[in-house]
Amino acid sequence: MNNNICNLLNIKYPIFQGGMAWVSDSSLAAAVSDAGGLGIIAGANAPASFVREEIRKAKELTDKPFGVNIMLLSENADELSEIVIEEGVKVVTTGAGNPGKYMEKWKKAGIKVVPVVASVALAKRMERAGADAIIAEGCEAGGHIGKLTTMVLLPQVVDAVNIPVIAAGGIGDGRGIAAVFMLGAEGVQVGTRFLVADECTIHDNYKEAVLKAKDIDTVVTGRPTGHPVQVIKNKLAREYMNLEKENAPIEKIEELGRGALRKAVKDGDIENGSLMAGQISGLINKRQSAKEIIEEMFNEFESIKNSL
Ligand SMILES: Cc1cc2nc3c(=O)[nH]c(=O)nc-3n(C[C@H](O)[C@H](O)[C@H](O)COP(=O)(O)O)c2cc1C
Repeated sequence: MNNNICNLLNIKYPIFQGGMAWVSDSSLAAAVSDAGGLGIIAGANAPASFVREEIRKAKELTDKPFGVNIMLLSENADELSEIVIEEGVKVVTTGAGNPGKYMEKWKKAGIKVVPVVASVALAKRMERAGADAIIAEGCEAGGHIGKLTTMVLLPQVVDAVNIPVIAAGGIGDGRGIAAVFMLGAEGVQVGTRFLVADECTIHDNYKEAVLKAKDIDTVVTGRPTGHPVQVIKNKLAREYMNLEKENAPIEKIEELGRGALRKAVKDGDIENGSLMAGQISGLINKRQSAKEIIEEMFNEFESIKNSL
């Protein structure tokens, strides 16, 4: 494809593999980039030295551009903001805040900055701060979410900014790409479908849970904490829901989530671990390489486009 996102980032297909805490390491990111998309290593709360290592490993695995996701509320954000410059990372996506204070040095280093937003107000603020593009993420997405669906958020963000907009949340096949392009997106960010990619190194139990999930098997927990999270229903999610029903103290709810994603990703504990995944899980029913996923999605998209 040849559009603004492909040209801006020097990639073949306008698809980002969303940064996913504990999940998107050099293996997945490099496979996605090698296949022509933009792979993204998650910074999350990982030690800065670990992120640096993952960046170096990705560089060994692919000569294509890849990105790093920095959660601005993380304690390591300042450190990671330097590491991406030192390591020559081409693209940074940011979550949970305003990357304004890093913008000048990133721009000077030639880094393209693409923040994730869940509201029009934040999209406008990011454009003013100098963002190169925006990811508008709807609440169908896996992981931490905002309030609006992709269907309603995306066209409003597209109307509000002049930079290219990438859609995230609920995109699982070529129909999803076609739908968001109709709403004005020029690219997509996909998380959940890449959870089952061959190169994704999460525990097999987690992958099986995504493959088995049906349409109504995800649930949003943690609303009272102000940080709602979309997960596949399991014992942990039910415990969350019970605490929320009882109006339990916020600290008690937060305590339940501590280390829970790691338990699912590394230990394969699909009952007590947090199985972050999006509502589109019900559509995802086969394992493929990252290359097969991307090519299948864009072949479907092309044939829909041609049939319209
Ligand atoms: C397991 C998991 C972890 C995630 N962690 C992060 C993260 O650390 N930073 C971030 O900006 N987004 C995170 N996300 C969101 C993804 O980057 C992406 O925007 C989202 O998954 C897209 O929606 P989809 O799940 O419907 O494909 C996460 C998503 C999942 C499923």
